Amino acid sequence: MTTRWTRKDLLGLRELSADQINFVLETADAFKEVGTRQIKKVPALRGKTLVNFFVEPSTRTRTSFELAAFRLSADVINISASDSSLTKGETLKDTARNLEALHADILVLRHGSAGAPQFLASRLKASVINAGDGAHEHPTQALLDLYTIRERRGKIDGLHVAIIGDILFSRVARSNIFGLLKLGARVTLVGPSTLVPREFEKLGVEISYKIDDVLPKVDVVNLLRIQHERQRREYFPGLGEYTRLFGLTKERAKLLKPDCLIMHPGPINRGVEIDSDVADGVQSVILDQVTNGLAVRMAVLFLCGGISTE
Ligand code: CP
Repeated sequence: MTTRWTRKDLLGLRELSADQINFVLETADAFKEVGTRQIKKVPALRGKTLVNFFVEPSTRTRTSFELAAFRLSADVINISASDSSLTKGETLKDTARNLEALHADILVLRHGSAGAPQFLASRLKASVINAGDGAHEHPTQALLDLYTIRERRGKIDGLHVAIIGDILFSRVARSNIFGLLKLGARVTLVGPSTLVPREFEKLGVEISYKIDDVLPKVDVVNLLRIQHERQRREYFPGLGEYTRLFGLTKERAKLLKPDCLIMHPGPINRGVEIDSDVADGVQSVILDQVTNGLAVRMAVLFLCGGISTE
């Protein structure tokens, strides 16, 4: 295994160097090519077992990790909270140790609690891949976002990216901030002051509460949905008000540079943070993000899965 990758786990982008992030993106280039072949399968993880353990709902991340594992010839088991013994009082640690006793080599974990993947990674020999932990990090989402920007614009360094919406409760925002800054982008956060607190400036980003001032200046906008499932009180008067002040409406989209990329990690709330026609328009790369997620997750599984046996 190359010295550019020595980690059995992927827990977040905060802990990765720019060189490690670039290495994942370069590895994903090779796996994207595999997806264009008639036989879209390689034997890289043959004989390995991957457990997709999702304690929170998911469409994109769970499906693309499963497909990525199939394409790498791994055996895959899917477990969700409702059909696991977590419902009978078993702890996360005991559940994970039982999965390891069944010789799981890679555990892909989505969990509502920040730090859950780290907790297991320090206790298991298996590789642990964070598929989103609370409002903390969602590293593979940020990696596929970086991949998509780099694919479309040829670089990350020097680009200006606006992340718009519910930053406070967004693991996607945090992982994107770490990744974008490490690769040399300028990042501006936009949203209601209740959801974009000034503390984020300590990470090295800029903050604006005036979306119409920011849109004409940026190369990429990444829109986030309101994460109602994590909010314990009201952070703005209502969804109509949110759309009026911060939604990427058709009128607002006219402020963007013609080559500005419109991104969204999904799931989209059409008509709230983004107009439906804008989401499906020519500047949108939302479905490219999903496609690229497969190659990026193949790269992550290949790199971390290779370490777990050494
Ligand atoms: N972007 C993302 O994490 O989507 P899912 O919740 O559908 O996995």
